[in-house]
Amino acid sequence: MTSPHLSADGVEAAKLAALEAISTAPDLEALKEVKINHVGDKSPVAKFSQELGSLDASARAEFGKIVGQAKSAIATAFEARSKVLEAQRDERVLIEERVDVSIPARRTPQGGLHPLTILTNEICDLFLGMGYRVAEGPELEAEWLNFDALNIPADHPARTMQDTFFIEPLDSHLVLRTHTSPVQVRTMLQEKPPIYVICPGRTYRADELDATHTPVFSQVEGLVIDKGITMADLKGTLDHFARSIFGPDVKTRLRSSFFPFTEPSAEVDFYFNGRWIEWGGCGMVNPKVLRAAGIDPDVYSGFAFGMGLERTLMVRHGITDMHDIVEGDTRFAQGFGTGGR
Ligand code: DAH
Repeated sequence: MTSPHLSADGVEAAKLAALEAISTAPDLEALKEVKINHVGDKSPVAKFSQELGSLDASARAEFGKIVGQAKSAIATAFEARSKVLEAQRDERVLIEERVDVSIPARRTPQGGLHPLTILTNEICDLFLGMGYRVAEGPELEAEWLNFDALNIPADHPARTMQDTFFIEPLDSHLVLRTHTSPVQVRTMLQEKPPIYVICPGRTYRADELDATHTPVFSQVEGLVIDKGITMADLKGTLDHFARSIFGPDVKTRLRSSFFPFTEPSAEVDFYFNGRWIEWGGCGMVNPKVLRAAGIDPDVYSGFAFGMGLERTLMVRHGITDMHDIVEGDTRFAQGFGTGGR
């Protein structure tokens, strides 16, 4: 049985249609369609191929050749067009999906510690290494602990409204602590000697913020109570403290002074970059203070010291304006290798 479609002209027409469709397919999507219609199992040439089986031997040989040549011409054209369109697609993708590696990356700044915190940690580490403990107290403090227990009398100028932030109602007898010294008293009331504590913390005084003052500042307080503690122990401790913070060649000196909670009292200075710089207060704990905290001054003696941390930081790093320390501009902290990077 001869197929009505299978003829030399029919094959030629199918081949020409296929080649035309292949050569005009604008992109790979369109070429997919062309493959279904002109190359695949349902295409006219495929159908002619199937029909070959029903021909007699001589007709099969004759048409087999014609169909085979048509199929191979179509396949060759299809492959060639595929390659051209794939190359075009690759080129377009390279342009469209181009990444500009020269655009600056968006960086997420990493947090860091404030230089004051770093200094505080450094001091705590130093004293922890000498067997001290870190003690803390509240910033909102009982007036009694901030003043009376430290032998600061009611008429002491430090107590007046000008220096101290009193908390309303006034009969709450609470203040924003004006120094870290009340932590001494808290420690002595809670612990039995021997006591070796270092107490860093925030303190408050009614000062205007200027280049050298800030109403919220930080102090570090040291307290030692043990048997046989002398002023030589105090001096040795301060020497070691100063050398650790300011450098191995730094010297300290004590200048006679007065604090109600120490007797004798001194001002401690250190020699740094060719001049003496005032650092803080110190002295032997006043027996009145020991007694107020329930410690027998005939058995125990001790020393205490206290200094400002902002001042320590300013001197060590040559910072000339307090604003830099308190304003929280991360560019300041970056100079210390931390913060905002
Ligand atoms: N509390 C004092 C102040 O704020 C500093 C101070 C002086 C602390 C002498 C002490 C000390 O422990 O013994 O000015």
